[in-house]
Amino acid sequence: MAKPFLKWAGGKRLLAPRIAELAPNGFRRYIEPFLGAGAVFFALKERQPEMPAVLSDTNAELINAFETVRDRCDALVETLRKLEASYLPLDREARAKRYYELREAVPEESTARAARTIFLNRTGYNGLYRVNREGRFNVPHGRYANPTICDEATLRAAEEALQGTVTMVADFGAICRGASAGDFVYLDPPYQPLSPTSSFTSYTPAGFGPDAQVRLRDEFESLTRRGVAALLSNSEHPEIRSLYEEKDYGYRFEAVPMGRSINSIGSGRKPIPELLISNFGRREVSRGLAMVAPY
Ligand SMILES: C[S@@+](CC[C@H](N)C(=O)[O-])C[C@H]1O[C@@H](n2cnc3c(N)ncnc32)[C@H](O)[C@@H]1O
Repeated sequence: MAKPFLKWAGGKRLLAPRIAELAPNGFRRYIEPFLGAGAVFFALKERQPEMPAVLSDTNAELINAFETVRDRCDALVETLRKLEASYLPLDREARAKRYYELREAVPEESTARAARTIFLNRTGYNGLYRVNREGRFNVPHGRYANPTICDEATLRAAEEALQGTVTMVADFGAICRGASAGDFVYLDPPYQPLSPTSSFTSYTPAGFGPDAQVRLRDEFESLTRRGVAALLSNSEHPEIRSLYEEKDYGYRFEAVPMGRSINSIGSGRKPIPELLISNFGRREVSRGLAMVAPY
């Protein structure tokens, strides 16, 4: 069974089966504009092996890793094996030195770059992906005694699941605008932080602030008007709820008492309830809005 080959802040491993259950029947194409480690894609693909999919994210290193797994898995496995052999036999201090060497040097060649991304993900602190304002990866060395750097079985299963998928580095807006009736879009943006100290929005240099949350709500509305089935997850935060309740589009809300797997830096791992918002299977609304629910 294919599953994420990266650890990812906000990863949906635990929630993916529930989201796969909620997916509409018989959609034409699956679109995931905030891909991360792709837990929901892998869960759906397991149920619908022939499902065409468009997978995108603004993180170019992440998308390069997916493309390398899909297109050059042999070379990737070989490179990861070499990295593993150059790291695991070392003592803690020498491992840290090796980690920081690899962190500083970004290779140009795409397979080597993907191997570096996976290596840093496996050996860095908590499997976080965080960049500074210049976009440089800045996660410190982790504390794993025996990390699996080359998980060949997981990479091979992902390679198979990814065949035929379309991948892109893009902002969610452009991808949502390319969706049409009959598609199913799953949106998993960086969360609205529940408190100022729990903020973790720096997967990308630009971050994901309140303006981006409003822009996303507007795209969700536009998908609804065009008859595209969409499901969004976010934190159960009053500001997020009110954004989606502002107009009576009859969206369905479901709060799921399940935390994100990595939800903050340094403030513990308190579970954050998840809020799922969908525009299909919803109650009829009577304001004459052009909402064709295809499912
Ligand atoms: C919560 S994570 C998605 C986690 C994913 N569902 C999983 O299971 O691993 C959010 C993702 O959104 C991406 N992102 C941030 N801003 C974005 C934007 N404006 N457009 C598209 N993707 C963006 C981040 O790079 C990150 O990978």
